[in-house]
Amino acid sequence: MSEDIDIFKKVVSHCKEYGFVFTSSEIYDNGLGAVYDYGQNGVELKNNLRQYWWKFMVQTHDNIVGLDAAIFMHPKTWKASGHIDGFSDPMIDNKDSKKRYRADNLLEDKIAKYQKDGKTNKADELQTALDNSLLANDLDQLKTLIEQHEIACPFSGTRNWTDVRQFNLMFSTEMGAMAEDADKIYLRPETAQGIFVNFLNVQKSGRMKIPFGIAQTGKAFRNEIIARQFIMRMREFEQMEMQFFVRPGTQKQWFEYWKEARIKWHLALGFDKASYRFHDHVKLAHYADAATDIEFDFPFGFKEVEGIHSRTDFDLKSHQEHSGKKMQYFDADLDENGKPFGNYIPYVIETSIGLDRLFLYTLCASYKEEEVGEGDKKDTRVVLSLPPILAPYKVAIFPLTKKDGLPEVARKIIDDLKFDYNCFYEEKDAIGKRYRRQDALGTPFCITVDHESLENQTVTIRYRDSMLQERIPISSIKSILDDAINWKKILTQTV
Ligand code: GAP
Repeated sequence: MSEDIDIFKKVVSHCKEYGFVFTSSEIYDNGLGAVYDYGQNGVELKNNLRQYWWKFMVQTHDNIVGLDAAIFMHPKTWKASGHIDGFSDPMIDNKDSKKRYRADNLLEDKIAKYQKDGKTNKADELQTALDNSLLANDLDQLKTLIEQHEIACPFSGTRNWTDVRQFNLMFSTEMGAMAEDADKIYLRPETAQGIFVNFLNVQKSGRMKIPFGIAQTGKAFRNEIIARQFIMRMREFEQMEMQFFVRPGTQKQWFEYWKEARIKWHLALGFDKASYRFHDHVKLAHYADAATDIEFDFPFGFKEVEGIHSRTDFDLKSHQEHSGKKMQYFDADLDENGKPFGNYIPYVIETSIGLDRLFLYTLCASYKEEEVGEGDKKDTRVVLSLPPILAPYKVAIFPLTKKDGLPEVARKIIDDLKFDYNCFYEEKDAIGKRYRRQDALGTPFCITVDHESLENQTVTIRYRDSMLQERIPISSIKSILDDAINWKKILTQTV
């Protein structure tokens, strides 16, 4: 585990050093907690991951369409969705250090400690008590467990705790120019509600027939108290969500369908199968009748990346009640008695993945330190073995020297490729150094233009993973890229 944690620390510093992720407004007091900016390479990787999701959801399913709803929504939305009353975490403060903690996290850390110390019975016993307290929403019992298990504040070392209280996670702001007239509105804590309120707009304007889905990617905001593990738990993050509307009574079958479809999509990225597992929920959210998480084995253990939820008709029904507008769908298909199914509020299966967590696992799974060379030339190289489709740059083109017409040939190659592929140009430093920099960015191919290129229109191609080099005609570069960077290849593994 400690070796894994070292790797995680290296991934985090790699992100900064190579322009993947920066702390937000870092120049001020080391930055804003749990808010991050994506740098020049991070934004490319993130865009590619988003595209992979979008192409799968929208392009390969003719019954799923996209949406881009606003971040601000009418405040009644959040009353209807249950977020104003129920979207909170149980928090406890230490009176001496004035630090605030999630009560369930303190208990989970204690369970992990019991397990580490071989006290399995104690760990199991506490886990059951924690699950029961959370299920019953029993805040007093959570505090009792913290006291009984003698949990102290990591900062003050004391056990001087307040009561456990619920703390709402939504950020609010005011709409309108005058503070006095201001209406309190919320920054959306999930993108899903933008889909629900547009359900009939999309269904009618797109003449969609059930079963059908609406997919959306976009920012969500949560006032997370405990900012942990880099971009795992952020206050501003991005979700990729799809709500799939089905006939009531068929939700179990569609829940199973989407579980399988989503895990296939993750596995098609080509990372180790053993790094993924399902975790079925014991404590169901207020809207769900079944739920599971897809977890990934991060260097700090298995953690949730995606949720698949059978949300019943909770959201549409609640929006109907709160808005006074009908949210029903007319199903003209015939049942077994030959009668139309008629009007009903559809049930919903949701798939909800955090783009930032997907980004983080992609980096953790791709980051490698490899021993290369022999004897005096022995060295370690850092390489991101990203699937080529995700790599920020698909190819780097290097003129061997800055003169003799080599840069012009290199530029001409880029001009032929740049409309299809993101290309990197560099003429500084020795070729070996330039290769290493591209390895660290995950660029799958490097092309070197030398004096021979002027004579016979050939170049050296160097492959990131094998580090093999070979001479190829300039005219064949494009087909090598087309073959390796091929959406069809990856997407056919998902359908
Ligand atoms: N609409 C359902 C929903 O929002 P969720 O389990 O709360 O469900 C879905 O969130 C996904 O969003 C999670 O699996 C996770 O990947 C991501 N996510 C949630 N909170 C996050 C946070 N604070 N920082 C980064 N990602 C987060």
